[in-house]
Amino acid sequence: MTDSDRLLDGARIAGEIREEVRARVASLAEAGVTPRLDVVLVGEDPASRVYVGSKAKTCVELGMLSRTHELPATTNQAEVEDLVKRLNRDPDVDGVLVQLPLPRGMETHAVLDLIDPGKDVDGLHPHNVGLLVQGRPRLVPCTPAGVIEMLQREGVEVKGSRAVVVGRSEIVGKPMALMLLHQHATVTVCHSRTRDLAGVCREADVLIAAVGQLALIGPEHVREGAVIVDVGTHRVTDRATVERLFPGNERKRKTFEKRGAVLAGDVDFERVAPVAGKITPVPGGVGPLTIAMLMVNTLRAAQARRGG
Ligand code: GUN
Repeated sequence: MTDSDRLLDGARIAGEIREEVRARVASLAEAGVTPRLDVVLVGEDPASRVYVGSKAKTCVELGMLSRTHELPATTNQAEVEDLVKRLNRDPDVDGVLVQLPLPRGMETHAVLDLIDPGKDVDGLHPHNVGLLVQGRPRLVPCTPAGVIEMLQREGVEVKGSRAVVVGRSEIVGKPMALMLLHQHATVTVCHSRTRDLAGVCREADVLIAAVGQLALIGPEHVREGAVIVDVGTHRVTDRATVERLFPGNERKRKTFEKRGAVLAGDVDFERVAPVAGKITPVPGGVGPLTIAMLMVNTLRAAQARRGG
């Protein structure tokens, strides 16, 4: 098998999903409906600003509308909550997304709990979480939904497999575990207190790394032939780390010289790829799928709200 046969090309799959959304948006437009996503960005986090920019841009590219509401980090809880309530009431708004993390001191759940569940395109409202737990998903978190979509489209056999999810966040790890369970995998969730992490991970046919630690998953965590999905994204700005993680990789070295940083995941890609059956790269793996699934959720919310 060549290296490129092994790569799970999230960027290509995300492109296919976006084209499907574009076609459905065009047919909705004929009925006079244009889905609209409103994104709330509080504070100055540079990474959040980049993500929000890509979300808005992708909406517009696919023929949907998007508004970004930028609030300074000094905004108080009540002002954010008032904005969410206003967006809930606005009949032109189909999707409401509050970019996370919110500034320190703000109560995230109090804000997320206010979002109209029918407009909750992040799938984080307890109503939508509950529906997912019960196996009747409506709006579900975009990153794990993108992972499932990729596995299905790439013909990865999840049914009956051993799946291990490393990470238990509300936005990725927990919903990922539930979605894999609903696809009939036998699922284990690992986290920072798991004993013998490598031993548990080596049981996986499908290993999902969503732990937020640079290159934590090495070859000692991987059974030969396993499918590896890397949800982590880290900006590496230190030359020694780039050289350690990507020895002899000219492309990464050039990117580092040009931009002063490269992206890397929770998986030590260079050492794990030769052992893996299939593996997602970073960048170009799960990241583009997340935005593509946000577009799917926005379209779905619009169709459900407007009876389409
Ligand atoms: N911050 C990082 N990823 C996400 C996401 O998927 N949704 C929101 N709301 N915030 C994020």
